[in-house]
Amino acid sequence: MPRTDAPGTDVAVVDLTGVSVRYGPAGQPVTALEGVDLRIRAGEFVVLVGPSGCGKTSLLRVVAGFERPAAGTALVRGAVPRPGAAAGVVFQQPRLFPWRTVGGNLGFALGRLGVPRAERADRIAELLDRVGLPGTADRRTWELSGGQQQRVALARALAAEPGLLLMDEPFAALDALTRERLQEEVRTLAGRLGTTVLFVTHSAEEAVLLGSRVLVMAADPGRVVAELPIGLDRSPDTDVSALRASPEFARLRGRLTRTMRG
Ligand SMILES: Nc1ncnc2c1ncn2[C@@H]1O[C@H](COP(=O)(O)OP(=O)(O)OP(=O)(O)O)[C@@H](O)[C@H]1O
Ligand SMILES: [Mg+2]
Repeated sequence: MPRTDAPGTDVAVVDLTGVSVRYGPAGQPVTALEGVDLRIRAGEFVVLVGPSGCGKTSLLRVVAGFERPAAGTALVRGAVPRPGAAAGVVFQQPRLFPWRTVGGNLGFALGRLGVPRAERADRIAELLDRVGLPGTADRRTWELSGGQQQRVALARALAAEPGLLLMDEPFAALDALTRERLQEEVRTLAGRLGTTVLFVTHSAEEAVLLGSRVLVMAADPGRVVAELPIGLDRSPDTDVSALRASPEFARLRGRLTRTMRG
């Protein structure tokens, strides 16, 4: 597999070289990732697709600083990533504090970011609007559906307006309409703020809609086997409905689907 360098010479936000991840006892390790090279430049929206167990979450965990590679090097903006410092993360599961309300979860995150107490309520309301959950600040997180909880987790990640956003199948549990709405929200937001995003999905449609390029992974051992640049217009004010209906969109989705089938 050639290096997945993007054109241009900007400093890489994410720079993985020969990264391997192994789990389990030293005698019988499970190789989740083997020799992954990945460079992501500022403002790129890179999507990972691949079968269950091919190491997508493991790769995100390395970039987030939760996992140290067994071999190779992982750098985020030139430094070894540390949890919490490197990026905003939306996991496959929402991981909210169950003893706090929705607003309490967001307020906690804002507090850690140094947002003064007096400003937090407004910021919380604005974030909840953004993810389509207005007026839910006083709800208990366990009163929300799984998809609603995931939207709170997204709001929490957006609170920091992070330069790097790592998202692990964030919309998998949502109904189709909410999913489309949030796809458009993330697309617009990333475009407007110039956020660098590494995003995992099983959906070719989602990958083509969001990605500036898509990396296709395979399992045993987990590795990147193909790369598909997506040349669609990514400006924040694109008409997304027209884009979804365009022949170019269908062509890219078809091509990615065929690549994913291998
Ligand atoms: N903590 C762990 N301990 C042992 N093995 C693990 C651990 N986490 C992941 N693995 C194994 O590593 C491999 C890659 O797992 P990973 O979660 O990265 O895959 P994935 O591509 O995210 O899959 P999915 O699409 O199902 O979320 C799998 O074989 C998995 O069983
Ligand atoms: Mg996973």
